[in-house]
Amino acid sequence: MTLELIIRYLHFLAILLVFGSLLVEFVLVKETLPKKVLKLLGKIDALYGLASLLLFGAGLSLWFWVGKPAEFYSQNPIFISKFVLVCLVGILSIWPTIFFLKNQKGNDEDVVNIPNYIRKIILVEVVLLLVVPMLAVLMARGVGL
Ligand code: HEM
Repeated sequence: MTLELIIRYLHFLAILLVFGSLLVEFVLVKETLPKKVLKLLGKIDALYGLASLLLFGAGLSLWFWVGKPAEFYSQNPIFISKFVLVCLVGILSIWPTIFFLKNQKGNDEDVVNIPNYIRKIILVEVVLLLVVPMLAVLMARGVGL
């Protein structure tokens, strides 16, 4: 029981970190940015990446290891939708990550044009992540089975 509680806590902690870091990225990304800010964005994105790993680890543990039996989730289309949405967010995040990594080198004062799609992808990630907790509270109570 204690292990389940710890993993539930880690699941929530990771959700806060993932969502928080993504919001900071959304606020910071403008049409043009000095390299200094891009370097900061790289660090925030690294936090986002680590928190995503924690989220996946805790989520998969809740699914297959602790708590209710795995079938409770595997057979629920609402849970599967939640999982697909989270995976979609993970895939979308590849493009901003590559952009931040590629554009870090150089003087802090150098200015970089940020393609429009970077901000749009981050916004889509934020919106998709807002839907996920709703699916989570439904599937946790067996709605959809
Ligand atoms: C690999 C990704 C994920 C997996 C496999 C996963 C899996 C799970 C599982 C199995 C539970 C336990 C439900 C229960 O209490 O019976 C849960 C709870 C929850 N998840 Fe996730 N999750 C993932 C990502 C996310 C994300 C990205 C969010 C939010 C942005 C999220 C939000 C929640 C919430 C709010 C709960 C608590 C629901 C409740 O007790 O009412 N999860 N998750």
